[in-house]
Parts: sequence; structure tokens; C-alpha cells
Amino acid sequence: SNEWIKVASLAEVPEDDVIGVMARDRELALYNLDGEIFATDNICTHGHARLSDGFVEDGEIECPLHQGKFCIKSGKAMCEPLTEDIRTYPTRVEGNEILILIS
Ligand code: FES
Repeated sequence: SNEWIKVASLAEVPEDDVIGVMARDRELALYNLDGEIFATDNICTHGHARLSDGFVEDGEIECPLHQGKFCIKSGKAMCEPLTEDIRTYPTRVEGNEILILIS
């Protein structure tokens, strides 16, 4: 079933940065790109690394382990060694709260 889940407050995600959050039993990465909020799975599709430990640059997240890059908005894998895109989630801001749609 689809459900909007509160995962963080806006103030917790600095501009052009990423944090890791839990939504139910899922680890997600939350991004703030110029004030707009995006969400992806937090565990890289290539190995066991957390994207929230990586770097946000030009709308992409760079994995800290082998420097694979994903497009934050689409989840698309942009370069080697990545072969699989990362899952993205719809986000919504209500007042000061960030909600993620989990299905
Ligand atoms: Fe992310 Fe290898 S674990 S690029």
C-alpha cells in the first residue's frame, strides 16, 4: 500500500547536501537541490556503501566507495562502475516536514 511517511524536517537537509533517513525499514537518502527535496534509496546499487556519505555535485550524487554517480532527480546511473539505476521516491513538503511516498 502507498503511504506518505514523515522522514525529516526541512532544516535537517542543508542546501546542496544529502542526509540518510529511515522510512519504515528502508534506508533512504534525502537531497536538497536548490531548495527542492528529492529521495533515493541510500544503499548504492553497486556495493554496500551509503550515498548519504557521498558528495552532491551538479545534481548528481557521487558514491563514496568507487565514485559511481547517479542523477539525483531520475536515479539514473551516469558512469562506471554502476550498471543499475537507483530507485527514487516522490517527496512532498508540508510546512516544515518532509514526507516520502513509500509503496
Ligand atoms: Fe557505489 Fe561501488 S559501491 S560505486
